[in-house]
Amino acid sequence: MKEYAVECIRCRTRFSGTEIVYTCSKCGGLLDIRYDYSSIDLELDAGTGRRWKAKWEGEGEGVWKYRDLLPFDDEIEPITMFEGNTPLYRCDSLAKTIGVTDLWVKHEGLNPSGSFKDRGMTVGVTKAVELGVKGVACASTGNTSTSLALFAAKAGIPCYVLLPEGKVALGKVAQALMHGAQVFTLKGNFDDALRIVRVLCEEESLYLLNSVNPYRLEGQKTIAFEITEKLKMEVPERVILPVGNAANISAIFKAFSELKILGITDAVPKMVGIQAEGAMPVTRAFKEGKAEITPEAKPETIASAIRIGDPVNAAKALDAIRSSGGTAESVTDEEITAAQIELARSEGIGVEPASAASIAGLKKLVEMGVIERDERIVCIATGHLLKDPERATEICEPPKEVETDVKVVRKMLKGV
Ligand code: F0G
Repeated sequence: MKEYAVECIRCRTRFSGTEIVYTCSKCGGLLDIRYDYSSIDLELDAGTGRRWKAKWEGEGEGVWKYRDLLPFDDEIEPITMFEGNTPLYRCDSLAKTIGVTDLWVKHEGLNPSGSFKDRGMTVGVTKAVELGVKGVACASTGNTSTSLALFAAKAGIPCYVLLPEGKVALGKVAQALMHGAQVFTLKGNFDDALRIVRVLCEEESLYLLNSVNPYRLEGQKTIAFEITEKLKMEVPERVILPVGNAANISAIFKAFSELKILGITDAVPKMVGIQAEGAMPVTRAFKEGKAEITPEAKPETIASAIRIGDPVNAAKALDAIRSSGGTAESVTDEEITAAQIELARSEGIGVEPASAASIAGLKKLVEMGVIERDERIVCIATGHLLKDPERATEICEPPKEVETDVKVVRKMLKGV
């Protein structure tokens, strides 16, 4: 049977999978799920001799296809909405504009709730049910709450979410409400909301499903497995993604590292984290060569999903960036907006502003000469365009009013 433990990344103290623990009780360090890789029984593909096969013949593919590398027994019944298995688009048109030759975009907006968070939540809520908790909770810039609300609804357990008032895109609030979460807004930012929900979870015995919970990251890991499979077990040279609470970049790096440890691949991509200029603690710490971030008291950006000043997973993210030989960069709101429009119009990929930060960052790093033009690059588009409809209508030309008369309408058509 596959063996794993929950381990502190700092002092290596280990906790069992039946304990509810989010940070190390000895030193306060972040936790990680560590497997005994020799106990993982991979079914190798006879053809290539490397590729592992899906063990689970359930409905569809997706996160649970990779249960060999998830912290559960084979018998577990997952709480699943068939998340994952998202498209990886080759983007030649956008590549040409940016001046690179081998560009791919993974559209995580096509998950059940419209963001990559579903990968983490199927695992996190499955764990919650296994533990028999009385309810689940999170703080959120939007997507986490939406995804948690959806999976809690599926599991039939109560869900509580805390949002920064007036700072969450409309689509996300609508989803959390519709899926039946108890939604609270507070005056303050995401970091304030997270601080409060962490205390509440301790005091009220609710299960915390922010990304400080290491089980979430295990689900998000599967983005890397899918990229690798789709690219026929060739690891890309770069993976670029937006960084907020800094979990996803850590999870994806972990997955690529695991594939290497298992001998399935022989390289790890350079991990590139992109933050908005008004909320860039990880980028700043990376550039200044610091081991720890300095929190930002007033993070500000139109990319509300990544408006975070004190990311909890910063230590993991900095390690992912540094040990993969990657980098971190910041982009302006104007660059994010331009990238969002470019991606939507040149490739048909509609994303929310935070997701477009990865494209804006790529463009900037190519111009700076940090990224070579012939590298194989994968950008992660983390959330769907419809998450933030208000922003879309602000940055696009409004519809033109016309008379109910075909002649008038015809005259107004451009380029026919
Ligand atoms: N992109 C989107 C669309 C997000 O919603 C988030 C995070 C990120 C990127 C950053 O990912 O936190 O793993 O570095 N959203 C969280 C939330 C914070 O509450 O929905 P990260």
